Amino acid sequence: MAPTFSLLSLSLLFFLLLLSPLPSSSQLPPTLNSAKTQFQRLIRGFNLSPKHDVNTGRPGGQSPAVGPAMVEWPLKLPVYGDSGNSIQDLGHHAGYYRLPHTKDARMFYFFFESRVRKSDPVVIWLTGGPGCSSELALFYENGPFQIANNLSLIWNDFGWDQASNLVYVDQPTGTGFSYSSDDNDIRHDEDGVSNDLYDFLQAFFKQHPQYAKNDFYITGESYAGHYIPAFATRVQKGNKGKEGIFVNLKGIAIGNGFTDPEIQYKAYPDFALDMKLINQSDYNSVNELVPPCEQATKICAANGGDSCISAYATCNSIFNEILAITGNINYYDIRKPCEGSLCYDFSNLETLLNQKSVRTALGVGDIEFVSCSSTVYQAMQMDLMRNLEVGIPALLEDQIKVLIYAGEYDLICNWLGNSQWVHAMAWSGQKNFTATPTVPFVVDGAEKGQLKSHGPLNFLKVHDAGHLVPMDQPKASLEMLKRWTQGKLSENESEGRLGLL
Ligand SMILES: *[C@@H]1O[C@H](CO)[C@@H](O)[C@H](O)[C@H]1NC(C)=O
Ligand SMILES: *[C@@H]1O[C@H](CO)[C@@H](O)[C@H](O)[C@H]1NC(C)=O
Ligand SMILES: *[C@@H]1O[C@H](CO)[C@@H](O)[C@H](O)[C@H]1NC(C)=O
Ligand SMILES: *[C@@H]1O[C@H](CO)[C@@H](O)[C@H](O)[C@H]1NC(C)=O
Repeated sequence: MAPTFSLLSLSLLFFLLLLSPLPSSSQLPPTLNSAKTQFQRLIRGFNLSPKHDVNTGRPGGQSPAVGPAMVEWPLKLPVYGDSGNSIQDLGHHAGYYRLPHTKDARMFYFFFESRVRKSDPVVIWLTGGPGCSSELALFYENGPFQIANNLSLIWNDFGWDQASNLVYVDQPTGTGFSYSSDDNDIRHDEDGVSNDLYDFLQAFFKQHPQYAKNDFYITGESYAGHYIPAFATRVQKGNKGKEGIFVNLKGIAIGNGFTDPEIQYKAYPDFALDMKLINQSDYNSVNELVPPCEQATKICAANGGDSCISAYATCNSIFNEILAITGNINYYDIRKPCEGSLCYDFSNLETLLNQKSVRTALGVGDIEFVSCSSTVYQAMQMDLMRNLEVGIPALLEDQIKVLIYAGEYDLICNWLGNSQWVHAMAWSGQKNFTATPTVPFVVDGAEKGQLKSHGPLNFLKVHDAGHLVPMDQPKASLEMLKRWTQGKLSENESEGRLGLL
């Protein structure tokens, strides 16, 4: 099915910004306005051109009246190869949820019931950014269907709806089809983001009570390395405080995530040297930028606010320095050069989702699609350098399964930095985890990765993949989801098969 169109994930855009050349270190860190300008230039350069900075829900001056808190409808998107009417029987839904702790925010979501069995877990996927929409992953990575070159939708044989009841949400407010007419609804930190997600989840399980007892998993990629631990912590708090419907949270999975900035920035020179992107003398000079980054990150952790914006500028010089040496590589997949100014071409998504007929089929009417929102990005700037690893040990002690996976050729959220923070994490199983040997992750008899598991913690390095693992390794990523949710990730494939006999 090798798609010829270039794919992209949103998360990326966040990093594009990080990577964009900064003023020399003697100059001030970028202001919010210059970040906005950079964001707009970059998304144009990558062939995304959202018409609006943020989704206000009023392209033509009026938002659709949304009555009850949650409204949901059957999704009627035509998919090539589908016989027509059966589309509504697939258990595909879309909807809007009026976020309660806001002035006017409506969160858009998709819900695809499992193609296999209703008892499969409920899995929510969060796309990175911050400021980009969930549709990027849905249509290019692990959704039930994908966009062909001719803008037809075609079925994805390895969509995660093959093993789960799959939910995508456009969040934070202002991205994708989620909107608010009130600026005060734009989120600035993980508290705001995770409270909105928790409210959504409560309403979702009220809407679908038959799924509330299923196992529940939170998954995502890239900047979702921030969202996911915060959201899982919020869910546990709600469960323990008996705030609402009990959420049967069983695990979190973060793919090529950005979770612990200090350790992950420090890993860039090591990864670049290991992968022969830079030589030893380059390495020595780039490495001199690491101590100031570590110090700036600590100041951000202590003081917050503007110190986090300057920490981002300081640390990002490490990345910029490496890119200055490597030239025109695709930092989401170092095997691939960028062609012209394009590493990815996401324009099909915007073209498709801005067609009136498609918006009507989706049920969003006149609401326009904002692929990535510069306003939302800017609003989250002080969140970027926060360390979200700190919430994960408590999840592990509660026996919440944690899967950290990473495509081996991604530079921006590389496997090495992820492996390093996972190993450095202090929890009761840390010693045993460290002492556990790495074993092959085998799919159809072929090694597709290297896995290390102890208790609830798993680290998987995925072979032949960049930042977008479900796009690069669709079958292996679906197998990963299946085995992990079934508690069989560390079982040998052959043992698993024997076990069935
Ligand atoms: C669109 O592309 C898909 C996938 O390549 C193909 O199967 C289909 O026939 C095309 N549809 C039209 C209308 O050309
Ligand atoms: C390392 O690479 C740089 C270019 O990035 C080059 O100028 C330098 O000569 C190389 N050094 C060695 C020891 O190969
Ligand atoms: C952890 O390792 C210690 C020392 O090897 C061992 O005694 C203990 O049983 C291990 N714990 C678990 C839960 O595997
Ligand atoms: C999986 O099976 C292979 C051969 O069948 C064996 O070499 C390997 O050690 C096994 N791995 C684990 C984790 O048991």
